[in-house]
Amino acid sequence: MKILLFGKGGQVGWELQRSLAPLGDLIALDSDSTELCGDFSNLAALAETVCRVAPDVIVNAAAYTAVDRAESQADLARTINALAPGVLADEAEKLGAWLIHYSTDYVFDGSGDRPWKEDDRPAPLSVYGRTKLEGEQAVARCTRHLIFRTSWVYAARGANFAKTMLRLAEERESLKIINDQIGAPTGAELLADVTAHAIRMASVQPALSGTYHLAASGETSWHGYARFVIDYARHAGRPIRVAPDAIEAITTSAYPTPAQRPHNSRLDTRKLREAFGLVLPEWRVGVERMLTEFIG
Ligand SMILES: NC(=O)c1ccc[n+]([C@@H]2O[C@H](COP(=O)([O-])OP(=O)(O)OC[C@H]3O[C@@H](n4cnc5c(N)ncnc54)[C@H](OP(=O)(O)O)[C@@H]3O)[C@@H](O)[C@H]2O)c1
Repeated sequence: MKILLFGKGGQVGWELQRSLAPLGDLIALDSDSTELCGDFSNLAALAETVCRVAPDVIVNAAAYTAVDRAESQADLARTINALAPGVLADEAEKLGAWLIHYSTDYVFDGSGDRPWKEDDRPAPLSVYGRTKLEGEQAVARCTRHLIFRTSWVYAARGANFAKTMLRLAEERESLKIINDQIGAPTGAELLADVTAHAIRMASVQPALSGTYHLAASGETSWHGYARFVIDYARHAGRPIRVAPDAIEAITTSAYPTPAQRPHNSRLDTRKLREAFGLVLPEWRVGVERMLTEFIG
């Protein structure tokens, strides 16, 4: 099996380099790659790369993920999150290849408190969410596709909320963290391992093509997530300045950002668990593992 991976240096892309390696011949690119183009802002060269490599599977971990910046860079975000995946879809279709892609709960409007199902009506609140939704629709032009919608991604490598909290907890004596957005922190390791498993199954069962919600089990708020990370770091002996009762819970309205974010980021993962026969561990399991690696 020949696999072409885009976005190899991102949180998920880095873990995919590990998890996809045993499946076959892996060619991994990022935006700086030289021999083959992995730059999503160069659509013609991207199409040529796919043509030249002629992979059996394309895995797209590249994305414009700066949610707030996207509000002022809508054209660039759309090129990377929607137009480039569309090019991959059209090229994959010509080859009869699989296209694996990641999306987000930000395609929903975050209303209610029920976990979102795959066929719930999307209604994104932000440029990022809109471009990711358009990207999903483009990817679905490829007959053989897997789209994994996930939430609140972290990894030991790369920038994410957990690492920002560790830094701030060592710098400041008090923190204010949002407690009315609910979701499940999901590890890049889990996403990468599930992806490898799903590719193996889908390659012999093409009917598995479709969109799936993929997130760790359980739920928390950003405030609950921050407290978990900071408590862990304190027990691990890190020089934490902020006291446990100085981590104040605030509402979204008290922390305005350029992009509007959904309150309800819960994803119903039943379809994925049943289709692929998988168990998705509780969010704390992966976060603790990441912190052990990162902090020691
Ligand atoms: N992070 C989250 O909380 C989250 C939540 C839900 C869904 N997702 C989705 O999960 C997927 C993986 O996210 P992640 O957290 O791994 O993102 P990430 O760490 O921000 O990595 C994004 C990757 O995209 C690449 N990229 C950016 N612009 C590019 C361009 N013009 N051409 C080619 N590559 C480009 C980056 O490479 P360079 O550094 O070389 O530019 C980087 O390798 C994405 O589809 C994202 O939308 C993420």
